[in-house]
Formats: sequence, C-alpha cells, structure tokens
Amino acid sequence: TEVKATNITWHSSQVTRNEREALLNQRGCTIWLTGLPSSGKSTTAFALEYELIQRGYMTYVLDGDNIRHGLNKNLGFSAQDREENIRRIGEVAKLFADSGIIVVTSFISPYQRERDLARKIHEEAGLGFFEIHVSTPVVVCEERDPKSLYKKARRGELKGFTGVDDPYEAPPNPELIVDASNNSPEDLVTQILPLLEEKQYIG
Ligand code: PPS
Repeated sequence: TEVKATNITWHSSQVTRNEREALLNQRGCTIWLTGLPSSGKSTTAFALEYELIQRGYMTYVLDGDNIRHGLNKNLGFSAQDREENIRRIGEVAKLFADSGIIVVTSFISPYQRERDLARKIHEEAGLGFFEIHVSTPVVVCEERDPKSLYKKARRGELKGFTGVDDPYEAPPNPELIVDASNNSPEDLVTQILPLLEEKQYIG
C-alpha cells in the first residue's frame, strides 16, 4: 500500500546501525516462524528466545496472541485483517532488527505474499531474514489443540479457522522446515541455531 500522509519528510538518525550493533555486540535480524494454529510456533519462539538470552544475545519475541492484545487489538481474522496484522509485524520486526535486536516472530502468517513483503523490507534494509516453517501436520495440531479451537471450528462454532475452513499457504522456499510432532521445543531450537551460526549472527 502507498503512503497515505502528505507533507512528511524522512529524518535521518545521527547514529548508524553499526554503532548500535557495536554497543550490543551483535547484529539484528528476524527469525520468522510460520505455521498452522497449535503447530508449536510460540513454544519454539520462546524456547529460542530463552536460549539466545542465555548465550548473551538480546532477543525479543513478537507473538500473535500477545500482539493481538495490544498493538493489533483492532484486528480480527478476516483475510484483510490478517494481511494488516502481518504487514504491521513485518514493519515492527524490521524496526527491532534495525535497532540491533534478534527478533523472533510467531504468527500463523498464512499468506505467502505478506511473508514475502516482510522479507523484502528486511532485505532492502540489509537485515537478515529467516523464514522457518513449523510444519507440524494438521492432525497433530488438531490432536494437541490446547485452546480447543479446532474443536470449536469442527463444531461450526468458529468460522474461518486456519487449517479447518481458512487457507494456509505453506512456504515454497523457507530457510528451514521444522516439525514439532516428534521433537521437543529444545530440539527445534537446536535445529534453528545453525542458521544463525552460518550467517554469523551468533558465535
Ligand atoms: S494470523 O493469521 O497470522 O493473522 O494469526 P495470528 O495473529 O498468528 O493469531 C493466531 C492465533 O489466534 C487464535 N485464533 C485463530 N487462529 C486462526 N484462525 C482463527 N479464526 C482464529 N481465531 C482465533 C489462535 O489461537 C491462534 O493461535 P496459535 O498460537 O497460532 O495456535
């Protein structure tokens, strides 16, 4: 979408990203988790945050349910609202990453177009972006169903639930695919960390 406001000008900072990153002794980037409801995104995101903080890296999780309590409390689950949800999170993640923080996002983010947009704004800003598909099969997600939302959706009491009667577009080209059905959150963290090591975001 275009910029709506007129009479606005870009004001540059007197501080470079390099200077901020030098203060933190790390480089900012975004690890973008995507997957069905109850696939294990949030658990993995918080386990990854925990591990990175233990290792001394400033990390912050942007989590769907949490962000929908605040910044995005005016958004529901229509296609348009999901798009706006993910557009905003892409921008917020980019700002956090620009500040030098390692960001972990945990949203269904069902549409490839919005995920690509999030990637694009990171890459254009020279910021690392890792798309990770938490690909836990829908039968396993439905079996877990900690919030009983699959159940509700199957009973027809919740319309437009991702994985039941709303689409999820699996990423064709993610940096990594992980599956939480036979792996603990810590196992998934172990699978994710090498991505950051390879690109020298962590030592
Ligand atoms: S999205 O599609 O990326 O905008 O969704 P997200 O912000 O990640 O929010 C997903 C969580 O909201 C709960 N919830 C729903 N999910 C999907 N479809 C519908 N209709 C819906 N209604 C509520 C659900 O608990 C999701 O939690 P997770 O953590 O993904 O299981």
